[in-house]
Amino acid sequence: FEPINPDRRAARLARAADLWDLRRIARRRTPRAAFDYVDGAAGRELTARRTREAFESVELLPRILHGTATADLSTSIAGAPSALPFGIAPTGFTRMMHAEGETGGARAAAAAGIPFTLSTMGTRSIEEVAEAAPDGRRWFQLYLWRDRERSLDLLRRAQAAGYDTLLVTVDTPVAGQRLRDTRNGMVIPPRLTLGTVLDASVRPEWWFNFLTTDPLKFASLSASSADLGTLINTMFDPTLSFADLEWIRSVWPGRLFVKGVLTGEDARKSMDAGADGLVVSNHGGRQLDKAPVSLRALAEVRTAAGPDVEIVLDSGVMGGSDVVAALCAGADFVLIGRAYLYGLMAGGQQGVERAIELIAAELRVTMQLMGAATVSDLGPGMMRTPWGAE
Ligand code: FNR
Repeated sequence: FEPINPDRRAARLARAADLWDLRRIARRRTPRAAFDYVDGAAGRELTARRTREAFESVELLPRILHGTATADLSTSIAGAPSALPFGIAPTGFTRMMHAEGETGGARAAAAAGIPFTLSTMGTRSIEEVAEAAPDGRRWFQLYLWRDRERSLDLLRRAQAAGYDTLLVTVDTPVAGQRLRDTRNGMVIPPRLTLGTVLDASVRPEWWFNFLTTDPLKFASLSASSADLGTLINTMFDPTLSFADLEWIRSVWPGRLFVKGVLTGEDARKSMDAGADGLVVSNHGGRQLDKAPVSLRALAEVRTAAGPDVEIVLDSGVMGGSDVVAALCAGADFVLIGRAYLYGLMAGGQQGVERAIELIAAELRVTMQLMGAATVSDLGPGMMRTPWGAE
């Protein structure tokens, strides 16, 4: 039994023409509970669905006879360059999706010249990710622990390991209700049951990788198997407030973005508390079901924050034309969560590289078809939306 045949994997990934193909490969190769943890969202998954529908409903306006021989996809965000106008969002428990986990994502991001964000719930340490891709650009995401010393320790380590930007996630005072996880009986660390054994027999590669790369890291998260909601709710502070944000600001010297802003008022308050930028995000629809669609919320946040504040958008981005839509709607930069994880599940680091490559290729051709030579050419007036200008 050979767990990974690189040639076959490369051929499989090369045949994926878009992110939806990668998602199909991912589903075949990953145990159901892990795939559903990624693919699913909160409640009835209304926000997740509406978030995708918003991207599908836009019309991008081509400018005819405005040809460009090439499109320059590079930009700058949080004080440094990025080869592409998108980066990798923070995701927890990533080694459950693929044994390489965060190091696969960080190496792929570094190779592409884009930022990689490590989550507080990451399954590789701050230092491991830095060592895996020393030349890569690193961002760190913070969930505020009940125990402030633990938060401080993470921030100091992130700073020492060269993470230049902090995303403070504010939409998770408690964990959203992920019904697929409940239905799948999903626990961390995974428990051996008849179901998981059967799953193992059809996905030997995933299990082989998982079991040979210390699953104890998961065990250390919790004394006994716990569902994700319980795990998150016992660790993080549900009383998180703007005063806490000010405290985080006072102890983090680098750039600070508040992740999970969806209204103009919260944008203003976040800036007043000392944020350098904002991440307009509904957490991929995984927290408050019926929360606003981030693409639609962008206009209000942009108006409140003003033209000079850097705004990053995430949630629902599955291709280059979605990146274009976000930039036309007023974002400076985009993060991909599931799109990255589908790539990771489909083929580790190589799969993430394929995901980035597919998004970049679609971005390039979309920009050229629209007559946009640079990322800054994309803006208002190049997209029509059914919701008009909000
Ligand atoms: C997330 N997200 C997330 N966000 C965060 O701030 N900390 C975290 O630990 C996680 N964990 C996490 C796990 C998984 C499996 C997913 C899919 C998402 C949210 C993430 O950063 C981002 O906001 C969304 O993924 C964006 O939506 P899309 O791109 O997945 O549609």
